Amino acid sequence: MTDEFIQPLLGWYDENKRILPWRDQHNAYYTWVSEIMLQQTRVEAVKPYFERFIRELPDIPALAACPQEKLLKLWEGLGYYSRVRNMQLAAQEMVEKYNGKLPENFSLLISLKGIGSYTAGAIASIAYGIPVPAVDGNVFRVVTRMTEDSEDITKPAFRKKTEKALQEIIPVDRPGDFNQAMMELGAVVCVPNGQPKCLICPVRDYCLAGLHGTMEKYPVKAPK
Ligand code: ADE
Repeated sequence: MTDEFIQPLLGWYDENKRILPWRDQHNAYYTWVSEIMLQQTRVEAVKPYFERFIRELPDIPALAACPQEKLLKLWEGLGYYSRVRNMQLAAQEMVEKYNGKLPENFSLLISLKGIGSYTAGAIASIAYGIPVPAVDGNVFRVVTRMTEDSEDITKPAFRKKTEKALQEIIPVDRPGDFNQAMMELGAVVCVPNGQPKCLICPVRDYCLAGLHGTMEKYPVKAPK
């Protein structure tokens, strides 16, 4: 992948990023909580849950010690309760091993319960400035359209290939902003179906699907 699109992308992000309660806070716990909540729930719906969660459980030791009943109450409405149960297990491990903090290390992050390569990449890059990619569904869509790649994105090998390609170009001075800009582009411009907003896209000159009008064909997901 070319890296020429990165400056226009970051410039667009600086001008257009949404103001979100967990953004630009430099608090790894907030990044973690928000990324887990956002995995199955839309941004607008997450906001009030996020605010209440961090007010009630302001840090990792508080999460680790929270009674089960209260924890499930804080998650009520978000669904997928295994997410919050795994978060508590990870919090307890961090209290035991890492002084109640999220480790500043991708391999240690991904070894924690409920933290996969996307979440580890998001925390490492956004909270700690470590240059590693964070590939979610938005990023898959942006990348497959830019490169007109019709491989099946649900294959683990495709994730690996995408992470490797992004690893090679991720800007070391702004890895967290780069990852968030890719997600933001996928969420508000390079939208799934219907009408991607190519006319206002900051990286249209570097997008093969946009140039050829083939946006609707990507990403390719094999039927289950
Ligand atoms: N969706 C999930 N995480 C996000 C983030 N950090 N920025 C924008 N959209 C997101």
